[in-house]
Amino acid sequence: MASKGQGPEGSNPMWGGRFSQQPEEIMEAFNASISFDQRLAPQDIRGSIAHARMLGAVGILSKADAGALVQGLEQIRSEIEAGTFEYKTALEDIHLNIEARLIELVGDAGARLHTARSRNDQVATDIRLWTRDKIAALVGTIRTLQSALLTTAQTHQSAVMPGFTHMQTAQPILYAHYCLAYVEMLDRDAGRLNDASARLNECPLGAAALAGTPYAIDREMTSAALGFAKPMNNSLDAVSARDFVQEVLAAAAICATHLSRLAEELVVFSSAPFGFFALSDGFSTGSSIMPQKRNPDAAELVRGKSGRIIAAFTAVSVMLKGLPLAYSKDMQEDKEQTFDALDQLEACLRVLAPAIESMTVNEVAMGKAASARFITATDLADWLVRALDVPFRQAHHITGALVAKAEAQDKDLSELSLAEMQHIDPRITGAVFEVLSVEASVAARRSFGGTAGPRVAEQIAHWRALNARPAR
Ligand code: ARG
Repeated sequence: MASKGQGPEGSNPMWGGRFSQQPEEIMEAFNASISFDQRLAPQDIRGSIAHARMLGAVGILSKADAGALVQGLEQIRSEIEAGTFEYKTALEDIHLNIEARLIELVGDAGARLHTARSRNDQVATDIRLWTRDKIAALVGTIRTLQSALLTTAQTHQSAVMPGFTHMQTAQPILYAHYCLAYVEMLDRDAGRLNDASARLNECPLGAAALAGTPYAIDREMTSAALGFAKPMNNSLDAVSARDFVQEVLAAAAICATHLSRLAEELVVFSSAPFGFFALSDGFSTGSSIMPQKRNPDAAELVRGKSGRIIAAFTAVSVMLKGLPLAYSKDMQEDKEQTFDALDQLEACLRVLAPAIESMTVNEVAMGKAASARFITATDLADWLVRALDVPFRQAHHITGALVAKAEAQDKDLSELSLAEMQHIDPRITGAVFEVLSVEASVAARRSFGGTAGPRVAEQIAHWRALNARPAR
């Protein structure tokens, strides 16, 4: 159970001056965020060091006090890294835990750190720094997953699989083309995260509680020291804004949606009736009752975790939507959602890359499924348009009649005789048979963005070159 605060007359040492009683234990535990916001310790220390240096530089604090603060904060950083720092629930959150320890270490100088600052601008700064770092890590894992998709695409560059619409066999495509579709989605995901990072990169520090501060602080200096593009213009906005949290969670939700669709296909395509993929032993699990089973748990968990990632955006948005400016304690609820959603997204990205790189791709099974009956029906209609100048809508109708005729005889289109075809439309010639093979169908789709081999090879080369470049 939480230890109670011990300030003067037993009240909280950090803010208890006007209180004569300690918080109830149940309230102390309810109010505290230290169990989860201790994660912000590195960012909190970075922010405090920048603030202390600025206070010293502009003469609000003596050089000696500023130096003592920086030293004390660095010692706390070592204690935290060594695991010897003692987090106290009575001290509520990471900000007060660090400040209280600083006062223990450097006395009055420590008690001067909070000059011209508030926990409101402090926490806003900390989460911006944390989110910026996390986005960089996420984008790195996205690049790794893209690279895994490119590798399997290249390994099976000429393999053909059925493409689906409505989950009905539609047209044959290259497996590499399929992989590249996810490479594209992931690139937009990285773009959205990078956009969010660029937009959040303004510094709230120095906004103080909500209205700014009477001290002659240098906000440009702290902003630059923390790697922000500029100090935020409006102090009220600086402490109230969490749209950057919504934005990164929205980007995460969209990325999770993509991963979930990919995961769904890994599950379906690795099932026995398809047999296109087999996840490696390392990324599958067995059944405790059915010895023959090989379950795609990695993919199922990626699909399942998308739920909580998408939910985090909703949770934070609903938490924020009724809040008056500026800070309200409700906002403390942003952290667990953000930490969990972005951790889970990172875990999904990290597991998918090696799962895909190590999975077996069954080219024969895919090829067989790609030769399913009538899969080249569109090619027949297109041939009628190109060779006989039949308007497409009529060509579609004629092809439909040919499909019905073949189906009635339990044959594929290419198994109809020319005479049988001419019975439906006398203009048809023997040349039609050239477009009815799966290979011809794929090769014909040479339009930009299409599945033909040369188009796909160009795209692989394009992405390989981009992926080889340093972080973007
Ligand atoms: N633990 C708080 C949070 O996470 C820090 C800000 C507290 N500010 C305040 N005025 N109580 O939101």
